[in-house]
Amino acid sequence: MTINRSLRFSVPGWVLIALLLVLCPVQAMAEIPDTFTNLKVFPQDIGKRQLLGTMRDFSTSLGVRCTFCHIQREPGEFDSIDWASDELDHKEAARGMMAMTRTINSELLPAAVGEGGGRVRCITCHRGLEDPRTLNDVLLDTIEENGVEIGIARYRELREQYYGSGSYDFSPMVLTSLAEALAQGQGDMDGAVQVLDLGVEMDPEDVTTHIMKSKVLIFKGDKDGAIASAKKALELDPESEQAREILAQFDK
Ligand code: HEC
Ligand code: HEC
Repeated sequence: MTINRSLRFSVPGWVLIALLLVLCPVQAMAEIPDTFTNLKVFPQDIGKRQLLGTMRDFSTSLGVRCTFCHIQREPGEFDSIDWASDELDHKEAARGMMAMTRTINSELLPAAVGEGGGRVRCITCHRGLEDPRTLNDVLLDTIEENGVEIGIARYRELREQYYGSGSYDFSPMVLTSLAEALAQGQGDMDGAVQVLDLGVEMDPEDVTTHIMKSKVLIFKGDKDGAIASAKKALELDPESEQAREILAQFDK
């Protein structure tokens, strides 16, 4: 296998092989041809090592296997992958993404911030996900289509699967701003309270979550609830001006 010869002494090559072995079954690497027949974006003379390095990068950036873009004729059989085929739409989408990324890096970024201003990669947007929407957008879209309960269930699923991976931001701010969008944007106070209850469950010590909940409960006319949430916020942060203001309002 020529790939072995060119990689033998280099550490990055070693790492590349190790990662490819994780992504593909061992004997399968040998099945990948040394010459390529359907390149429309890469230069025709691209080396196998560079091409496979980029392919590995695509796979990890999107959190997918090779077969997300390359059709496999027999399920589970690596040998049956037809690398050159363009049958899967994801492969064509990836070509569009390659062109987009290239234009951003060669034209749009330098025009915006000058040369040497860093660069965008697949992972910059994708963060290990096929669908690079932020958690906030995923939840808003889910709630819009299926309601708050399903949105909350989706949050729990994603948190279970992705917490700590960096693919999604699970900081309390995501739920407080989601609640804000529901309350202010859509006048859905009940939905906002449900989301904030989830926030309290996930991060019981987050002061902003309690303050926000208190404010929404005021809107709903739930005075006792609003006071309880403001008191909780003040207990966690005795300096909180917002909590004091809310409580002062009810003292009169
Ligand atoms: C996100 C989509 C995507 C993923 C995932 C992906 N590829 Fe590709 N692959 C492409 C695209 C697009 C091309 C064609 C590039 C071009 O037109 O220049 C390509 C081309 C190839 C080719 C050349 C085929 C030919 O003869 O023209 C090989 C071999 C290949 N990929 C192997 C892999 C391997 C191995 C993996 C998994 C480690 C992988 N690819 C993962 C999108 C992908
Ligand atoms: C500037 C941000 C950005 C960059 C950089 C980027 N993508 Fe994307 N990509 C997106 C967005 C946004 C979508 C979702 C489009 C949609 O379906 O709404 C997407 C969708 C895709 C899809 C289609 C997924 C599907 O489920 O149909 C593929 C494949 C893909 N990207 C591959 C890549 C590859 C490969 C790279 C690097 C060469 C890349 N992307 C770089 C933002 C980006």
